[in-house]
Amino acid sequence: MALKPKFAKESLTINTEFVLPNDTNHLENLFGGRLLQWMDITGAIAAQRHSRRVCVTATVNSVSFKYPIKNNSIVTLEAKVSRSFHSSMEVFIDVFVEDQVTGERTKCNEAIYTFVAIDQNGSPLPVPELIPETEDEKKRFEGALRRKQLALILAGRMKPEDATELKNLFVHD
Ligand SMILES: CC(C)(COP(=O)(O)OP(=O)(O)OC[C@H]1O[C@@H](n2cnc3c(N)ncnc32)[C@H](O)[C@@H]1OP(=O)(O)O)[C@@H](O)C(=O)NCCC(=O)NCCS
Repeated sequence: MALKPKFAKESLTINTEFVLPNDTNHLENLFGGRLLQWMDITGAIAAQRHSRRVCVTATVNSVSFKYPIKNNSIVTLEAKVSRSFHSSMEVFIDVFVEDQVTGERTKCNEAIYTFVAIDQNGSPLPVPELIPETEDEKKRFEGALRRKQLALILAGRMKPEDATELKNLFVHD
């Protein structure tokens, strides 16, 4: 039986953390590895909300650390599935720092992870289709197949000549 498609917003997962000295490097900024861990967990919950299955991280498609995050900062991570395929889901994680006095939020990081829904034997399971609604969701949805093909090429799981979506970026009639 076909799985009922779900809206992107149904997977929204918000995680707020407080940066403690133990999370920081010698510059007293949040250690990148700690942020990757928070992003991984927040993203996995979003994938699990979409699929209602146990999910594992297949790859980190991209991560950018735009601004350093200081000790004692309040950090909010927002994860949402941007597109689902057969068993895999692409998840965007946006990271914000909150000014403790004004409450103003600044986006300081963004990452894209891919999770796969699995059964008790670790075999991939089908997941529901995703319906994007907002302009942002639609934009991220449209680029997801391109990013999936790039990740599969880098992982040696796809031949570049089979990456039709990627080729369309460069080859025009
Ligand atoms: C991810 C995993 C379940 C894939 O299993 P597999 O037997 O290779 O299954 P498949 O080849 O059918 O791939 C399943 C899906 O994952 C996707 N996938 C696998 N590797 C990928 C990669 N490197 N990048 C992007 N997508 C990937 C496939 O494209 C496929 O997607 P689709 O079904 O939506 O089309 C398996 O490799 C695994 O368990 N890896 C370890 C996960 C883990 O421990 N994560 C924590 C890291 S510390």
